[in-house]
Amino acid sequence: MLRCSSGAILKVDADHLIVFDDFRNVELEIKADLIFADPPFGIDFKANLETYNRTPDALSYVEVSKEEYPRFIRELADWCYRNLKDDGSMWLISGWNNLRHVLDAVEDVGFTQLNHVVWKYQFGVFTRRKFVTSHYHLLLLVKNEEDYIFNKPEHYPEDVWIIKRPYRHGEETAGNELPDELVERCIKTSSNPGDLVLDPVLGSGTTMKACLKLNRRCVGIEINPHLEKRIKEKLRLNHASLTEYVDK
Ligand SMILES: C[S@@+](CC[C@H](N)C(=O)[O-])C[C@H]1O[C@@H](n2cnc3c(N)ncnc32)[C@H](O)[C@@H]1O
Repeated sequence: MLRCSSGAILKVDADHLIVFDDFRNVELEIKADLIFADPPFGIDFKANLETYNRTPDALSYVEVSKEEYPRFIRELADWCYRNLKDDGSMWLISGWNNLRHVLDAVEDVGFTQLNHVVWKYQFGVFTRRKFVTSHYHLLLLVKNEEDYIFNKPEHYPEDVWIIKRPYRHGEETAGNELPDELVERCIKTSSNPGDLVLDPVLGSGTTMKACLKLNRRCVGIEINPHLEKRIKEKLRLNHASLTEYVDK
C-alpha cells in the first residue's frame, strides 16, 4: 500500500496505518478520497512556550521556521494534490500568520477553494496591545468543482463553526491537538464509510481516531516518532501486539 524511507509503520489493523517519517519520503500506491492536514503554522512556537505554559516534553511537535514555511507548504500542497483522487477533497488548516503562503500554494498546485471555514475556539493566548486570536482557517479544497463528495451536515450549514477545545486534565498532550468534533465534522462531510483518508501531518492521531470511529480507512504520517506514545494513548492501543513495527 505504501513505501517510506524510515520503514517505521505502526499497524493499527489492515486498514489503519501510521508511518513515522517525513511525508515527503512516503510514496502511496493508492490515492486518497480525502486528505485532512493540520500542518505546523510556521510561527516561533518556542518563544511562546512560557505563554502557553507547556513544557518542552509535552510539546513534542516539529515546527517549520518562518523562512522555510513558503517552501514547506508548497511541498505539502503538491504532495497532497498528487496523492488525492480526481474526485477527492482536502481540508487544510491554517492560522492567519502564514495564510497568504498557504493560499498561494494551494492555487498554484491546482486546487480549487470551495470554502474558507472559520473555526472559532475559546481562550486564545492573552495579548496586551492587539486582539486575542481565537480562530483558525479551515480551507475546503477540491480538484474538480463538478465532482466531489459533500454530505451536507445540516439544512443551512454556515462557514463559521464554534467548537470548544477540550480541556484534557492531567493528560500529557502533543502540541496542538484538534477537538474530535471538528475533525469528525470535516471527515463526515467530505467522505463516505470505507473511503481512504490520508493525514500527512498526523500529530497526536486525532484524524486516525475519527476514522476508526466513522469507519473510514486511514493512513497517517508523523515525522516525530516520540509522538507514538501519545498516539497509542489516544487510540487506546496498549495491546502488545499492536506496538510492533512492520517493514514494508
Ligand atoms: C499541528 S500538528 C497536528 C495536530 C493534529 N491535528 C492533532 O490533532 O493532534 C502538526 C504535526 O505535523 C508534524 N510534522 C511537521 N513536519 C512534518 C513533516 N515534514 N512530515 C510529517 N509530519 C510533520 C509535527 O510534528 C506535528 O505533530
